Amino acid sequence: MKIILTKNYEQLSQVAAQIIISQVSEKNDSVLGLATGSTPIGTYKEIIKLYNDKQVDFSNVKSVNLDEYYGLEKGHEQSYFTFMNENLFKFININETYLPDGTNPNSFEECENYEKTIKNLGGIDLQLLGIGHNGHIGFNEPDTIFSTKTHCVRLKPSTIEANARFFETIDDVPKTAYTMGIGTIMSAKKILLLVSGEDKSDILYKTVTGQVRPQTPSSILHFHQNVIIVADELALKKILDICPEIIDKNI
Ligand code: GLP
Repeated sequence: MKIILTKNYEQLSQVAAQIIISQVSEKNDSVLGLATGSTPIGTYKEIIKLYNDKQVDFSNVKSVNLDEYYGLEKGHEQSYFTFMNENLFKFININETYLPDGTNPNSFEECENYEKTIKNLGGIDLQLLGIGHNGHIGFNEPDTIFSTKTHCVRLKPSTIEANARFFETIDDVPKTAYTMGIGTIMSAKKILLLVSGEDKSDILYKTVTGQVRPQTPSSILHFHQNVIIVADELALKKILDICPEIIDKNI
């Protein structure tokens, strides 16, 4: 994995957008694995700017999202379907986008279908990730095993609390979600992890320097050959304090 240090969130978003645009320039029919959460919003804004500047064409690009809340209608204002439309899809010329269908009550069928979709697309070329405070990626929560494929998860109270800021009350936050598995994420050819803010400094340090274990799902990224972490100074605070020499190197 390689860590790129950026001054702030704005620069992080610019660097991340450039990496994604380069991917699409090199392979115009790339399959992009996309993410929600507040972290990639700036990246999506930068991508939209570059698209408006005619620096990128998404007409042959396909996307698959990491996760979706179970039970939320597509049109729900907090569904990840709505998030992706409002923050990216409606502003660019992408034609084929996929998210798990949160309204399918048959989780076995939904998870199988989603894995088939990814397989039929030829796999993911670049997977964008954010990270939860407990190291969750997608909605893969700390566990005793690493999950393999797309599955339905029960969200941890800390994740429900963290995501409550987007809902009217904490009781409105769905308690379960569909998510790509750790195995699905790890099968992407490249992974781009974005980390911003001092509140993520501990988990970033743990991800990069700690043991690989399912209790810290993000630690699995050590076993992937092509991971870029773009993080701002605040998120890198602990690494800058303890082991600054690992920044910008392949570790
Ligand atoms: C949610 C999403 C994750 C995201 C995480 C962190 O739980 N399912 O994909 O990485 O939140 O979000 P934020 O970037 O807002 O801190």
